[in-house]
Amino acid sequence: TWTSVNIVDEQVERIREQVGDARVICALSGGVDSAVAGALVQRAIGDQLTCVFVDHGLLREGEAEQVEQDFVASTGVTLKVVDAVDRFLGHLDGVSDPEEKRKIIGREFIRVFEQAEREVVEAAPEGQPVRFLVQGTLYPDVVESGGGEGAANIKSHHNVGGLPEDLEFGLIEPLRTLFKDEVREVGRQLGLPAGIVERHPFPGPGLAIRIVGSVDADRLRILRAADKIVREETTRAGLDAEIWQFPVVLLADVHSVGVQGDGRTYGHPIVLRPVTSEDAMTADWGRLPYDVLERMSTRITNEVDEVNRVVLDVTSKPPGTIEWE
Ligand code: XMP
Repeated sequence: TWTSVNIVDEQVERIREQVGDARVICALSGGVDSAVAGALVQRAIGDQLTCVFVDHGLLREGEAEQVEQDFVASTGVTLKVVDAVDRFLGHLDGVSDPEEKRKIIGREFIRVFEQAEREVVEAAPEGQPVRFLVQGTLYPDVVESGGGEGAANIKSHHNVGGLPEDLEFGLIEPLRTLFKDEVREVGRQLGLPAGIVERHPFPGPGLAIRIVGSVDADRLRILRAADKIVREETTRAGLDAEIWQFPVVLLADVHSVGVQGDGRTYGHPIVLRPVTSEDAMTADWGRLPYDVLERMSTRITNEVDEVNRVVLDVTSKPPGTIEWE
C-alpha cells in the first residue's frame, strides 16, 4: 500500500543505485515538485547533489527568495543561483505564441543548466562528472505530454516534451508516478516547511504563459503587482487550502476603456482564474466569496495603474485548461 514513508525509502534506494558515485544537478523551479524532488535526492546522496536555481525573471514576487532562503535552510543543500533574466527576456522578445514561448523557455533552461554543469564540475575537487539531472515531473505531466498510454499531446509541458535533442544528462524523476497531493505528503515526510509544501502549483514557464501577448519587463511588473495582491487577499481570506491554484492572467494585447477620477483610462484587463482540483487533470472554477473578489478587484485597479478592469474566469477544465496558454 502507498505511504509517503514507503515512497521515500523506495526512491532513496533507487536513486542511490542509479547515481553511484556520479554528481547530480537538480533544477529548482521555485515550485513544490522540484523542491520535493530535490529534497528527496538530497536525502539519498547528500553532497553529490548541487541544486541550481535559474532566475529566469518569470517568477512571482518573493519566490526567488523563498528558494534561496527557506529551501536551503530546511534541506541543507548546496545551491547555485544563476541570474539569467536578461537572457530569457531577450529570447522571448516579441514572441506571443504559447507553444513558442514554452519551447524557448525549455530550450534556454537546458542551455543554462549545461553551463551550470560545467561550472559545478570545475568546482568539484574530486572531478566527478555530473551525469544526472533531477526533474520534478509528475504523473499528470507525463500523461498530458503523450508519455502515458493512449494520451493525446495537449500541451508540450517544458519539463517533458520540450527537451532539446542534445541533452547531456540522464534523468532522475522520482515523482513520475505521483499526483500532487502525494508529492505534498512526501515533502512533509522530508521535513520541508509548510510554506513550500502547501504552495500552489506553478508552471515551469512561469508568468510568461500568464501574459497573453509578448513578454517584457514592464508587462511582468504589472502582472507581478496584480498577482501579489491576489495572493495576499487569498491568504487573508483563509482560502489557500481550498483553492488548488490561482492563475492571474494579464491580457496584455487587450485594452478597454475605463474611467477613474475625472479621466478616461485605456488599460488592460486582469483575469482571475481560481480553480479547485484534485490533480490538475480536471478542474472546476473556484466559487470565491463576493467580498473577497471585490477586495481583489478594488485593490488591483487602485494599486496597479495600467489595469482598469478585473474579470473572473468561470470555465471548468475541460473545456478550458487551467492556464490560459
Ligand atoms: P493546464 O493549463 O494544462 O495545466 O490545465 C495543468 C497543470 O500544469 C501546469 N502547467 C505546467 N507546468 N510546465 C509545467 O511545469 C508547463 O509548461 C505547464 N503548463 C501548465 C499548470 O499550472 C497546472 O497546474
